Amino acid sequence: MASIKKVAVTGGSGQIAYSLLFRIANGDLFGKEQQIDLRICDLPEMTDALEGLAMELADCAFPLLHKVTIGHNLSEMFDDIELALLVGAKPRTKGMERGDLLQENGKIFVGTGRALNEAARKDAKIIVVGNPCNTNCLITMHHAPKLLRKNFHAMTRLDQNRAAALLATKANVPVESVRKLSIWGNHSATQVPDYTQVEIGTKRAVDLIQDQHWLQQEFISQVQGRGAEIIAKRGKSSAASAASSLIDATRALYETTREGDWYSSAVCTDDNPYGIEEDLIFSFPLRTDKKGNYEIVKGLEWDFFIKERIAVTQRELLEEKSHIAHLLKG
Ligand code: LMR
Repeated sequence: MASIKKVAVTGGSGQIAYSLLFRIANGDLFGKEQQIDLRICDLPEMTDALEGLAMELADCAFPLLHKVTIGHNLSEMFDDIELALLVGAKPRTKGMERGDLLQENGKIFVGTGRALNEAARKDAKIIVVGNPCNTNCLITMHHAPKLLRKNFHAMTRLDQNRAAALLATKANVPVESVRKLSIWGNHSATQVPDYTQVEIGTKRAVDLIQDQHWLQQEFISQVQGRGAEIIAKRGKSSAASAASSLIDATRALYETTREGDWYSSAVCTDDNPYGIEEDLIFSFPLRTDKKGNYEIVKGLEWDFFIKERIAVTQRELLEEKSHIAHLLKG
């Protein structure tokens, strides 16, 4: 049996974690052979909620759950971890953009980055979900210089899954036949869900769907606005779908990507092949090789329509960065 995997989840008492933790414990993340040492973190005032959660996890008698630790001291909780799923942050409410949370949530990620720097393994993988996740991830990465910059991610898999589901419904095909779907840029209303490279079965999506207006207008704006639409309906932000996409996002980093496909995740732009400004966290199409290393998919062409929108999402990330420049120091 493989050695026990130490995994930390922040925001442990929140809605996303409530869907996520039971799936991790069930083996949905690392398979049915892999024992997990699970660290569930939240603020001191959430201790009762974490205790209740730990009781429920115990009551499930999950065979893979080697150990569960709850707590708020991140330096202790991150000790020797190899994976951190950073879910904890204030969620947005109706009428807000994710970027409106920048100042309040950005501060949280200063401390989180420092604790990772102190305690996590140098090659730990970090996935940020708390919004605005790209810029929160940038803050975390800046405060954890001992960790590999390549291993910091912000989750755009939920956008990819939303986009794939929409295209599959439109083309009336099973969702797994949708391939090569890229989300470029920020996990925000400026993100670019790129249908131009998508293949559905053996055909290009543009040839199969043959509805340029729908692809350029409705498809893109529905993916961009899906999070807000869910908040308007549910009165709170998406939770189970975010948790499920986080499982997918994490697995994609450990498993060899299937032939003829890629997945999207927001990663550090250092040395990127698309000329995006360095030191941002920007969503790209990625592929993971047999050794568990990812690479940005190179050589994809942007038509004028996509290129213009990518410039907009890049600009937004630069603006977000300038608003939290003070949080990147020290
Ligand atoms: C989502 O996309 O559903 C999440 O990022 C939550 C939000 O604020 O939209």
